Amino acid sequence: MSVIFIRMSSHPGAPTPMENGVDPAGVTPNTRDGETEVLGEAEDCRNPTEVEMTQLVMPCHANHLGELSTGQMLKWMDVTACLSAERHAGLLCVTASMDDFQVEEAIKVGQAVYIKAQVNRAFNTSMEVGIDVRVEDLSTGNQKLVCMAHSTFVARSLSGEKVQLQALIPRTSEESLQHTLAAERRRMRLAHADTILELVHSCPFQDVTLGPNVDYGKELVPAARTRVHSVELVLPPHANHQGNTFGGQIMAWMEAVATISASRLCRAHATLRDIDMFQFRGPSQVGDRLTLKSIVNNAFRKSMEVGVCVEAYRQGDCSPASLRHINSAFMTFVVLDDNGDARTLPRIKPYAGDGERRYREAIARKKIRLDRKYILSCKQNEVPLSVPWDPSNQVYLSFNNVLALTLLASRGAWELVSVQNGIKLYSCEEGGLLSFRIEMRACVSAEQAFLLLSDLQHRAAWDKHYQKCSLIQAADEDDAIYSVESLAIRKGLRPQDFVVLMSRRQPCQTSRDPYVIAFRSVTLPAAPPSPNFTRSEVLCAGFIVQQLNSSETRISYYNQATPAVLPYISKDIAGLSVESHALFLACKTFLENNSKL
Ligand code: COA
Repeated sequence: MSVIFIRMSSHPGAPTPMENGVDPAGVTPNTRDGETEVLGEAEDCRNPTEVEMTQLVMPCHANHLGELSTGQMLKWMDVTACLSAERHAGLLCVTASMDDFQVEEAIKVGQAVYIKAQVNRAFNTSMEVGIDVRVEDLSTGNQKLVCMAHSTFVARSLSGEKVQLQALIPRTSEESLQHTLAAERRRMRLAHADTILELVHSCPFQDVTLGPNVDYGKELVPAARTRVHSVELVLPPHANHQGNTFGGQIMAWMEAVATISASRLCRAHATLRDIDMFQFRGPSQVGDRLTLKSIVNNAFRKSMEVGVCVEAYRQGDCSPASLRHINSAFMTFVVLDDNGDARTLPRIKPYAGDGERRYREAIARKKIRLDRKYILSCKQNEVPLSVPWDPSNQVYLSFNNVLALTLLASRGAWELVSVQNGIKLYSCEEGGLLSFRIEMRACVSAEQAFLLLSDLQHRAAWDKHYQKCSLIQAADEDDAIYSVESLAIRKGLRPQDFVVLMSRRQPCQTSRDPYVIAFRSVTLPAAPPSPNFTRSEVLCAGFIVQQLNSSETRISYYNQATPAVLPYISKDIAGLSVESHALFLACKTFLENNSKL
């Protein structure tokens, strides 16, 4: 039997908040003056929505290799995250989606699993929950991270209506960071389906894998061999006390049929590597029959994509018209050899019609997966300066742009270098990179400062380095690509030019988030390098604009120095000049002179 206990603590064995004398809201009585004080960032400052599940992996949880099945792990993750969401909402919650994730580490029978979940942000009726899974080898005490994931839950009233949630106030710098990033991840997940559709419709696919030049997998397996149909009856143990099926249970059933499809391709056990987002389109209840269908959509050289679809019907009415679409997901599998290396796979021969469509769509999803993994998994200082821009990776590049600036701003090691006319210059040296921040207060509303600063065509009015700026492409209302021409770094050199993606974000109505304007270089066929300019690059730069009171706004400009800006700023940081102070004094004057909306 598995051991389950759930508590609010950040470490196994740590006392609960109440045992520590901390109330779940994180506000504790100040014994000296009788007022309440909010806890600081101490070890004991635990998030009141934090829930931890600890499990001992038993043979009944494992696959034939003695490893925890991903389906079982998904059930535990979903329950832990749901309980965290319900702590915040004070109501029943249902899983709306789980973002794509990868499993980094196999978990074996006898090992302990710790699943920790906490609400990162409440939006209107939905909230994002962050989930960490760790494994501990009980004989050595070694712990490893298995995966990190994000789920979205929607709160439901007793009558089943969606409910407006209370905002979640972050209390530590890590919580603030996750709070900001949650809004970015939400943009990405809500755009997910459109991104895929757009790519599928806009890219002309060449059928290279069916052509004569394919140098792998001579065997051609008919897709029909990989088709799996199954049915599940939703029973009370699969559901919460209102009778709604747990999302984790459905994900586990989906993983099981997908594994059979994948294993049938090459008659060997397949291992799940990657899951595209699970999106729950409609609820199902106790008594529903769920039909699960899976098939290998496409087999690439070393990996394959399996598509799974779940539909529900009530007893006695399984006509196609009464089937409700519950979920569809795409999973990537590999087949490992005895050394743990991915085997070369046979090719798949798709069905005519729909099968060929899914075959092509799988190629599009693979491209998106690779782009997204590359763009999102790169650490800030590992991302190449310019990333090619195309409509299929727009949403990830925009996310990455804002993420990089948010992370730069949240660094702790900023040192004040100098103050001149109220303009402060800070520097930060971390991980071999030099960054700087310039901060000022201006008598202008944050909204107006945001509008002026996010339109780069205004920049030449206060920045003498900007010679010319033109809009190349307005990707959407928050993302635009500009071409900027600026002065040469030194006399005798060619002037510089940049192609930058500007991604801007306004705070949600209910939050006190700042306005954000992020910049990074991208490459674009429409703006090739010119022999008259030195093409220069911006890795991470931008403004964070925060209203301080009814008349004043704080404007912070950040820049992770690249060769294109280093010559300007290093003199200021060394104290040899105050050029950046003069530049931002001009910016302040410009904003104040144009302060009327
Ligand atoms: N990922 C994340 N959030 C999503 C989402 C997705 N794929 N689809 C919708 N949402 C969010 C919306 O952003 C919105 O949040 P907000 O109010 O904070 O802005 C909220 O869900 C409601 O969105 P709405 O457009 O009103 O959608 P809806 O009426 O279709 O409801 C669900 C969305 C998820 C509630 C609905 O599809 C549902 O009931 N799904 C089944 C849930 C379930 O039973 N899960 C358990 C397994 S069966």
